[in-house]
Amino acid sequence: MSHFSYKNGVLHAENVALADIAKQFGSPTYVYSKAALVENFSAYANACRENRRDDGGALVCYSVKSNSNLAVLNLLARLGSGFDIVSGGELLRVIAAGGDPRKVIFSGVGKTHEEMRLALEHDILCFNVESTAELQRLNDVAGAMGKQAPVSLRVNPNVDAKTHPYISTGLKENKFGIAYEEALTVYRTAATLPHLRVAGIDCHIGSQLLDDAPLLEALDRLIELADGLEKEGIRLHHLDIGGGIGITYDKDKPVAIGDYLGRLFARIDQWRLQQYKGAPIQVMFEPGRSIVGNAGVLLTEVEYLKHGAVKNFAIVNAAMNDLMRPAMYEAWHGVQPVLQRVSAAKTYDIVGPVCESGDWLARERSLALEQGDLLAIMSAGAYGMTMSSNYNTRGRAAEVMVDGDQVHLIRRREAPSELFALENLLP
Ligand code: LLP
Repeated sequence: MSHFSYKNGVLHAENVALADIAKQFGSPTYVYSKAALVENFSAYANACRENRRDDGGALVCYSVKSNSNLAVLNLLARLGSGFDIVSGGELLRVIAAGGDPRKVIFSGVGKTHEEMRLALEHDILCFNVESTAELQRLNDVAGAMGKQAPVSLRVNPNVDAKTHPYISTGLKENKFGIAYEEALTVYRTAATLPHLRVAGIDCHIGSQLLDDAPLLEALDRLIELADGLEKEGIRLHHLDIGGGIGITYDKDKPVAIGDYLGRLFARIDQWRLQQYKGAPIQVMFEPGRSIVGNAGVLLTEVEYLKHGAVKNFAIVNAAMNDLMRPAMYEAWHGVQPVLQRVSAAKTYDIVGPVCESGDWLARERSLALEQGDLLAIMSAGAYGMTMSSNYNTRGRAAEVMVDGDQVHLIRRREAPSELFALENLLP
């Protein structure tokens, strides 16, 4: 169910009219629905609860990069979520939001010494290691601190996720993970390093996957490796399949989360009982987009309409610096007028004020518009605010979270003076 719907011709987030939000907080503003966030997280949590019994359990580690606002993290922490992070900064965010560092897994190809130290100080659950060089560094850092670091190897299963090339990560040509053929050797190395403890195995083959077949194929490849490791006396405690179920932007029809998890758990249980001697294994997920993507919209106002011989433009006050996805991936986002007009529609490109031809949010949309109208750019909750920038010295948008008929400001708009507050003149 969508938590963004029209009531008396006005688009609402839950029970609050978006026009009222614009009046109170201005625009551009990211608007999130708390109910949608809870519902999306619960789809994972409930499927985990229904499918796992006494066999090691399951942990949903929300992927912080998709939306890292403290209020979002705090809400998910309260629902029991773990977190998938890719930087020391994200770890500090999780802690500031009241998340439990012992439920944090640390992904990413370029972890620095400082980030490793920080994560070890906070006793995170696991490091998802992506190379032999990283294993060595982690062993050194942990040794110097008198600690043992829990590790999982991010294996590249060489499975085609059939998604946008920029967000496909599980193929041989991608920079991510350890090549499948080398994984056993790297695990052997990990097992001999004194300051590491082999805890699990993980992969992440890409984002915005609509079908679960590539994920189940990746799972089979991880299982094969786990069997190989077991034969050598290396027993894994968890298996992490990464993020990955996509959302509906346009006409996309992603597999239902419960169905995907049902198939995944069935396959894991069958293997566990038949081959893995019934040993418990914790199952982990790193979803981001499917939790926040459709729980947020970007609210923007039409500054000018420009009607031309070949094209009509609606110039709005949000831009590529607020929502980078269209410029970067030619991503499609729905555009809904906040007030539905009865006048005749025209075809518009929705563009921002930034000085780049790539600064567009949507193309060729049929809309009845007037200057000053408000628009909602839909499905903008994931990789919207987190990928925003200050290009053109534009302050980042405000963020609010709607809860029933309440609106909470969860990040105020950046003021222009704050954008250059860290800079110095020459002496
Ligand atoms: N785990 C790892 C290791 C990842 O790299 C990612 C996303 C996730 C989990 C979460 O995947 P999700 O559940 O959100 O599909 N900026 C792009 C998406 C980049 C995804 C990067 N990795 C976009 O706007 O489409």
